[in-house]
Amino acid sequence: MIHQDISIAADVLRTGGLIGFPTETVYGLAANALNEFAIDKIYKLKNRPSSNPLIVHTHSLEEVTKYVTHIPPAAFKLAKAFWPGPLTLLLPKNKLISHAVTAGSHLVAIRIPQHPLALNLLRNIDFPLVAPSANPYTRISPTSAQMVEAYFGEDLPCILDGGHCEKGIESTIVGFDGNTTIVYRQGAISIDAIEFIVGRAKVLATVRERVTTPGMAPMHYAPRTKFLIVEDVLEFIYDNPFSKIGFLGMGEKKIEHPNLEFISLSTTSDLEEASMNLYKSMYTMDTMNLDYIVVKKFPETGIGHSLNDRITRASYEPELQTF
Ligand code: TXA
Ligand code: MG
Repeated sequence: MIHQDISIAADVLRTGGLIGFPTETVYGLAANALNEFAIDKIYKLKNRPSSNPLIVHTHSLEEVTKYVTHIPPAAFKLAKAFWPGPLTLLLPKNKLISHAVTAGSHLVAIRIPQHPLALNLLRNIDFPLVAPSANPYTRISPTSAQMVEAYFGEDLPCILDGGHCEKGIESTIVGFDGNTTIVYRQGAISIDAIEFIVGRAKVLATVRERVTTPGMAPMHYAPRTKFLIVEDVLEFIYDNPFSKIGFLGMGEKKIEHPNLEFISLSTTSDLEEASMNLYKSMYTMDTMNLDYIVVKKFPETGIGHSLNDRITRASYEPELQTF
């Protein structure tokens, strides 16, 4: 059921159940982070390998300090700058956080979300929440309660409705190695914004570089329809005259063709708006019985890097890889 009653959601969580809940990035599938049975249910429902660790969500920096041994100075600066918000920090965990959460790592991924409903919920319970994105493994992350319901149906009876997610893509994940700041997953906070706070950061590349953490697994965020990055949409239409093609574009519709469906991610070509609309539009096109969904690379500026990361992953074809 989709509803807005925090007390019902809190009760489900207290008794070891799962809920869907909104954050400013994407919807999460949440459980009590201190209850291993509840954590196990997340892996089962998502069909996610237990080697892929979960992000812990809390409501304050004071809460965060309860679960980590220390916070490096650069992490503290980033926390001050971006929390509550779409930043996940990899910090050394203490023994309150089990290896079921971190998949055996001594680091825990932790963040304070910004969505008012999420913060309210977290303040109403006396434990943190683990929450991966509320999609079955490898599917597109949901940006509305309705998408979560469509994925899990009766297997997830409690979904908190916080409307459409404002950011629309996942949090930026940042870790630390000595004095080096490392961006493990590009996300809703741009690298420029991170570097403005801590200076130069090392960014782990997208698909073609070796997979270094589970978070970098390439086959992610994919629609079921064949998804391609193209340079010239018109040329693609002419090369595939018998195919039904969906184009996720920026700006107004420029190409009229009977075989073409068009969704504008932002009529004003605004990257933040495109981010908000990307997953929703991929999901919509995935229900339209198309042969291909095509998209053009976004400008390599600000959050455009994160969007290019997501579309590169969505278009990833294992058999084409040579590493
Ligand atoms: O925006 C978000 O971060 C959303 C919302 C719900 O908060 N959550 C999210 O969770 O995207 P998930 O599980 O879909 O992606 C988290 C990524 C995973 O790919 C996981 O491998 C990585 O974070 N991760 C989690 N804990 C980690 C750890 N201890 N070390 C390295 N990577 C970790
Ligand atoms: Mg996910």
